[in-house]
Amino acid sequence: MDRKEKIAIAIDGPAGAGKSTISKIISKNLKILYIDTGAMYRAVALKAIREGIDTLDRDKVSEMVNNIDLKIVYSGESQRILLDNEDVTSFIKTPEVSIGASNVAVIPEVRLKMVELQREIASKNSVVMDGRDIGTYVLPDAEFKFFLTASVEERAKRRYNELIADNKHNVSFEDVKKDIEYRDKNDSSREFAPLSKASDAIEIDSTDLSIEQVANKIMEYIEKNG
Ligand code: DC
Repeated sequence: MDRKEKIAIAIDGPAGAGKSTISKIISKNLKILYIDTGAMYRAVALKAIREGIDTLDRDKVSEMVNNIDLKIVYSGESQRILLDNEDVTSFIKTPEVSIGASNVAVIPEVRLKMVELQREIASKNSVVMDGRDIGTYVLPDAEFKFFLTASVEERAKRRYNELIADNKHNVSFEDVKKDIEYRDKNDSSREFAPLSKASDAIEIDSTDLSIEQVANKIMEYIEKNG
């Protein structure tokens, strides 16, 4: 691909569809930044949990997010998230934070603040950004939009294996599946910028595909249409 200008690639989809793994491969191949927007909502949830704030309490969470200091920095190829200048990247993958992130993400004040940060990064860099509302709301003019899906069973399996491999989490497969189902419903039914496929996004069902097969499909599409 002969590309000189700044580009944006949006990769949306439900939890466990493989967005972050695929986005990292694409960002490496194209040598552009990868922005994991879920990590931002997770950091907001972590702060609420640490401060004893119920992640469903709109007033308290909105007030808290007014004064939050959230930064994304890069260490080699990995994105680190700084919450009030503390690197919290390794604390945000727990099931408790996942549910909390889905809860705080319903709150418009939280979303507006996160979206401002996301758009600012995309205005200065070529990016592959993954999330729920990137193609529909954050970057509606993105050059490429993909929507990754997979069956609930398959997504729960992937998440469960990730958590077990991480060795830090004591979870059952059934709990992981329930978390995914809760977030699917919560993320898709919220009023402001819900999880949904942009009308111009390419949908890829990855249930029976390997990571390499999905990444290749996306790369082929970008090379052909870039
Ligand atoms: O991608 P993830 O699983 O790390 O995201 C955690 C939660 O954050 C997800 O359940 C919903 C929310 N989220 C969102 O609402 N919008 C985004 N762009 C990214 C994540």
